[in-house]
Amino acid sequence: MDNFVFYSPTEFVFGRDTQQRVGELVKRYGGTKVMIVSGGRSAERSGLLAQVRESLEQAGIAYTEQKGIQPNPTDEGVYEGIEIARAEGVDFLLAVGGGSVIDSAKAVALGVNYEGDFWDYYCGKATVPVPGTLPVGVVLTIPAAGSEGSGNSVITKLDGRHKISVRYPMHLRPRFAVMNPELTMTLPWFQTACGIADMLCHIFERYFSNTDASVPDAVAAGLMKDIMRNALILKDDPDNYEARASIMWASTLAHNGLCGTGKAEDWSSHRLEHELSAWYGVAHGAGLAVMVPAWMAFVSKKNPAKVAEFAVNVLGISPENKTPEILSALAVELLKQFYITLGLPVTLRDLIGEDPDINLLVGSLHSNMGETLGAYVPLSMKDCREIYRMAQRTDTLV
Ligand code: NZQ
Ligand code: ZN
Repeated sequence: MDNFVFYSPTEFVFGRDTQQRVGELVKRYGGTKVMIVSGGRSAERSGLLAQVRESLEQAGIAYTEQKGIQPNPTDEGVYEGIEIARAEGVDFLLAVGGGSVIDSAKAVALGVNYEGDFWDYYCGKATVPVPGTLPVGVVLTIPAAGSEGSGNSVITKLDGRHKISVRYPMHLRPRFAVMNPELTMTLPWFQTACGIADMLCHIFERYFSNTDASVPDAVAAGLMKDIMRNALILKDDPDNYEARASIMWASTLAHNGLCGTGKAEDWSSHRLEHELSAWYGVAHGAGLAVMVPAWMAFVSKKNPAKVAEFAVNVLGISPENKTPEILSALAVELLKQFYITLGLPVTLRDLIGEDPDINLLVGSLHSNMGETLGAYVPLSMKDCREIYRMAQRTDTLV
């Protein structure tokens, strides 16, 4: 196990009706003037925003609002948020929504008291957040990105479509996250399924590693099995509270860093996917359902050991009379079938509706990430091109 620092200070307030405690929580974490950040229409439609406003009013906390953050949030929304927050003297950001809303709020948190362009943090020009990074609180409405417990924020710069992730655990981990599984019951099934693909991939990025670390791997294997089991329950019974609750909590644990403690992490599948959501506007989780099997098939040819372990320990495939190569090929096939069962796309054509421009994707990946990606099997840009090519068709995977 490698040396590590695990700093995860977020207070998670989990369960039915917990959104009613949001005013009390903001007060506890020192907020006096809040900016509520929300997405398209879902939180207004469900009545959640009205409940949040009421809770803040009861706690005597003033607020302003920024609405309309779109999936795969852009720099445009961040600039708007910074402007509102500065004009209104906001000292606390309350994200009501999913990863897109939370990540946009986190970018505003970085930018409000920074004299330069907030994008400096995303393009590597600035690396140490200035004193006065605003605190962020969350009311989560979709279990997926894990941003409620992560120190990450992912923003797309519209000019050039650069989708970049930053990680500042000391500054960007939310102070609190309110998580009521009932709030996720208004999700369209497709979004629930995308969230499941995303949370699984957050574990894959840490589990598929050459570092031996039995504790995070034991946690990871348990979470993966539980997510897959509950996903199938929800597919038939989307209002099942226990399954919703398990999926919601698992999605946080998948990405709060626990599964990566002491391990070299990979993140190739995410980098490959971010180009798809940046250029084609697809849902992040759906993009992962396409890229992960292609990535896994590719790396299995060079390093099948951990994929074979996944096949046995997580997917329950019997190892008897099977080489690591056979086990890993079976794992790819089973995972793909799992995504298909959830109604997710598994080819680029299904995802985008056309064949993507692979030159564009690889060129953009190169400009954002440099020459190589990943750690389990380091990938050259030539490898990435091959993985996109494999993702065009299902029958090329094994
Ligand atoms: O905008 P509204 O109307 O709210 O609709 C949203 C949106 O269309 C809808 N939705 C959310 N909660 C709902 C609901 N609809 C009905 N009922 C509810 N309760 O779902 C759609 C997707 O929302 P979004 O916030 O985009 O989803 P998600 O949480 O998957 O976030 C995706 C973003 O997070 C980034 C992704 O790249 C993408 O930009 N990620 C962030 C990470 C992080 N900060 O740590 C890590 C991830 O790997 C990921 O890259
Ligand atoms: Zn993700």
